[in-house]
Amino acid sequence: MLTQLTVSNLRNITELTLEPISGINLILGDNGSGKTSLLEAIHLLAMGRSFRTRSLKNAIQFDQPQFQVIARTSADIPVGLQYNKNSGLKIRLNSAPVKRLSELAMQLPLQFVPANCHQFFEQGPRYRRQLLDWGLFHVEPRFNSHWQAYKKILQQRNAALRKHKPISEIQLWDAHLASHGEAITSLRKQQLEKVLKQFSVLFARLCPEYRGADFTLKYRNGWLKGSTLEQAISASIERDKQLGYTRSGSHAADWSFKINDADPVEMFSRGQQKLFFLALCMVQAKMAEDSNHDRSILLLDDISSELDLKHQQNVMNELAQLPVQTFVTATNFEVSNIEKAEMFHVERGGLR
Ligand SMILES: Nc1ncnc2c1ncn2[C@@H]1O[C@H](COP(=O)(O)OP(=O)(O)OP(=O)(O)O)[C@@H](O)[C@H]1O
Ligand SMILES: [Mg+2]
Repeated sequence: MLTQLTVSNLRNITELTLEPISGINLILGDNGSGKTSLLEAIHLLAMGRSFRTRSLKNAIQFDQPQFQVIARTSADIPVGLQYNKNSGLKIRLNSAPVKRLSELAMQLPLQFVPANCHQFFEQGPRYRRQLLDWGLFHVEPRFNSHWQAYKKILQQRNAALRKHKPISEIQLWDAHLASHGEAITSLRKQQLEKVLKQFSVLFARLCPEYRGADFTLKYRNGWLKGSTLEQAISASIERDKQLGYTRSGSHAADWSFKINDADPVEMFSRGQQKLFFLALCMVQAKMAEDSNHDRSILLLDDISSELDLKHQQNVMNELAQLPVQTFVTATNFEVSNIEKAEMFHVERGGLR
């Protein structure tokens, strides 16, 4: 969680300093005032990358050589990120250079809810895995070691496939890949069962139209049903050789929650889909706090898109109860009775 934030020369923000509170930080301002850019700055700091551009050059203010984001965490640790056109990206955590982005992610757990998050259901399985794995990364320490090992072995197996190595050499990786993959699958399923329990309660409060609905977990392992991962990998060796990569495994998994036995994407309105995504993030943030006793950060861009006033109010009520530091942007905010919120008005890239 952040207690202080200074952004310089990022998009239209020339210099902005903010002292966010531990609850809800409401960022208000007209179109183009710099609200999303402020969220982008926080995202950059916590993840080392932008949600808007792959090329960080685009985020530097026109005619400037670099942008900078500096912050202090609730544990009084300084974090700083600088991107310079010539010297590139430099990140410092507690006055030392950051070598792996996972160090940052550990220090500043962050979830970003984009304005178009209702598209979550239409996007590929990668996004659903990412969302789930974020929770596991912060809740279940064993997950990270299995996932790192799995990724490494998968890369090596894929390299062997691409280089047309003999089958016996490729299969050297299979047992290890399968054992980590099975462990990942079981941790993911356990996490989803826990998420589902809290999700069905929270979603009913955000979206009372679905109170009493029946939610069930749908999980696809990423390999042939009814077989173990080792059997599936072994059975598809010829196909993998043709493809040049390993098709089956935890990296191909997908999941969803079904409502009254139907897929949300086929049944939900866009607003309901947005509430669905939000509820997932909120539940995982709560679970992360329960296990680390430290608040994570939730960025919610443009709360009013797709949501009517009543549902925005429901979201704000739930956020106020959540042990999470939230940054919410809106052009005009009409929700009243907001607890634990501080308002910041942004105008032409600065605070009004
Ligand atoms: N590299 C840049 N240098 C300077 N200004 C930029 C740069 N990139 C984008 N901008 C401008 O920064 C401004 C802020 O954009 P931002 O997306 O943060 O606005 P916003 O407040 O989120 O607006 P909306 O309500 O429409 O979402 C825009 O006017 C945009 O054109
Ligand atoms: Mg915006």
